[in-house]
Amino acid sequence: MRSLKTEKDESVGPFLRWAGGKRWLLCRMPEIIGSLSYNNYYEPFVGGGSIFFGLNPAGKSTLSDLNSELIATYKQVKANPITISRLLKRFDNSPEEYYKLRARKYEDPAKKAAQFIFLNHTSFNGLYRVNSSGEYNVPYGFRESPKIPSEDHLINISKRLGRTSLKVCDFEHACESVSKGDLVFLDPPYTVAHSNNGFVNYNQRLFAFEDQKRLADLIDLLRRKGAYFILTNAYHSSIAELFDRGDRKLITSRGNAIGGKMAKRGSAIEYLFTNAPLD
Ligand SMILES: C[S@@+](CC[C@H](N)C(=O)[O-])C[C@H]1O[C@@H](n2cnc3c(N)ncnc32)[C@H](O)[C@@H]1O
Repeated sequence: MRSLKTEKDESVGPFLRWAGGKRWLLCRMPEIIGSLSYNNYYEPFVGGGSIFFGLNPAGKSTLSDLNSELIATYKQVKANPITISRLLKRFDNSPEEYYKLRARKYEDPAKKAAQFIFLNHTSFNGLYRVNSSGEYNVPYGFRESPKIPSEDHLINISKRLGRTSLKVCDFEHACESVSKGDLVFLDPPYTVAHSNNGFVNYNQRLFAFEDQKRLADLIDLLRRKGAYFILTNAYHSSIAELFDRGDRKLITSRGNAIGGKMAKRGSAIEYLFTNAPLD
């Protein structure tokens, strides 16, 4: 068991841009879980991994996501940070080079990972989107100074991933080995019931409201196991109804302190549920 500590050190921050990334929440973790001690750490919707990199859990971590290219990239950064850095230096940031690189089909896993990282940093909004054939189809982003991770950054990330197990799987299977005293951070795509625009297509399938229900069942199971969970989700009545089971329910926003009160009007607000006790 260890006490919670958060880090803002850029050199070990996420090496990818990720839609829905939770970097902004990191500085608020002490307010959310205080000095909680926990055993192993799980992040089943890891995306860019902001919370994992910031918390720097001391125990074993399991990071997973349904996006197989994302997890393959994590595995390559863990194993070959220097090779990937060298490959990244060969790419140019221009629309012509971007589209040429986007069309390339590499077999070599290190090359694939470098391609994934470079496109992620030079694409429009760092989105990950594929067409019906599973091909990445995000347009060029016209970013003048993309923050392509340096060799040192990738080496630090590789060390940080040393104690992790990386898996491609659905969130439900990712949590099978969770036990008492473990911490699970859950940041799913935000889907709400009865909404025409609430579906987010991160992969080749939708995260439907049925998946939110499966997630609620998983959280019941985590509670029964005696594990701690933190769930972020959409600020919507259907979400409150599904997940409000007597745990702490907070309203969070990028720009405001957390509290039971409504955050500043006009800023995007979200729900956060946790069974972690406050000190
Ligand atoms: C909001 S993002 C997570 C962002 C992350 N917290 C960060 O800070 O970058 C949600 C992630 O869930 C993944 N995902 C979608 N459906 C999933 C499923 N059924 N099981 C596991 N991961 C899933 C997506 O690929 C995406 O990376």
